[in-house]
Amino acid sequence: MKIQPEEKIVLLGASRGLGLATKFLLEQRPEKLNLYSFSRKLNGTDFSRRDRWDEYAKTFLALEADRFIYFAGGGPYGDYEKSEWKDQEWALNVSFAFPAFLLHSLLQFNKKKERARPFQMTFIGSAIAEGKPDPKASMYCAAKHALRGLITSIQKEESSMDLRLFSPGYMDTSMLPLNSWPRQKGLARKVENVAEELVNFMTQPGPNLISVAMD
Ligand SMILES: NC(=O)c1ccc[n+]([C@@H]2O[C@H](COP(=O)([O-])OP(=O)(O)OC[C@H]3O[C@@H](n4cnc5c(N)ncnc54)[C@H](OP(=O)(O)O)[C@@H]3O)[C@@H](O)[C@H]2O)c1
Repeated sequence: MKIQPEEKIVLLGASRGLGLATKFLLEQRPEKLNLYSFSRKLNGTDFSRRDRWDEYAKTFLALEADRFIYFAGGGPYGDYEKSEWKDQEWALNVSFAFPAFLLHSLLQFNKKKERARPFQMTFIGSAIAEGKPDPKASMYCAAKHALRGLITSIQKEESSMDLRLFSPGYMDTSMLPLNSWPRQKGLARKVENVAEELVNFMTQPGPNLISVAMD
């Protein structure tokens, strides 16, 4: 889906990492895009707060955006039982439950509205965690599996929305610990390069694409 002049794009979790790198790239586009970014540090928007999900969904939908990209994700590192339940729940909420809720709200809204172009919503998965075990990141891994299951199922349902899943490999962001083995083995990719792939992916003719890093 080609980027149109003055499109409105909502970036969810773009204060650092892949989200911020994508925001920088989009800001440089000649189409003069209208970008709206949300995160805890940017404007106190905390996707783990179930009590605020309704309010968040209403705020995002009221923007009448053309595209949404959901970047936020994460979870505790270590053996499952060693973290407190509230930390496991945080991983589940931010990496799966809130994106699932938001997608549900968007699909309902999309059904009611006549739109010239369908919404596009892109979620960020994980080439590693969504398809195989990820020991010591078990809830994060479960959430990414669930996200992939949800998206690939809805992609096969009847909807006029353009739903996409972009699943990168390891990236050099604060999510990856400094002494982690993927860094030591040189597997962590520069986030600017991954952001470029993401923007290319969003602009490919669709609808309903998935992209999984092969490295
Ligand atoms: N890094 C990797 O190796 C890797 C590999 C594969 C997939 N991924 C996936 O790629 C995506 C981006 O990862 P990244 O490495 O760029 O992560 P990151 O550097 O940790 O950045 C995460 C972003 O999400 C926001 N965020 C986190 N929790 C939030 C919350 N509760 N409410 C609102 N915003 C929240 C953060 O902003 P605030 O702190 O301001 O809230 C930040 O802007 C994630 O979905 C991740 O699972 C990462």
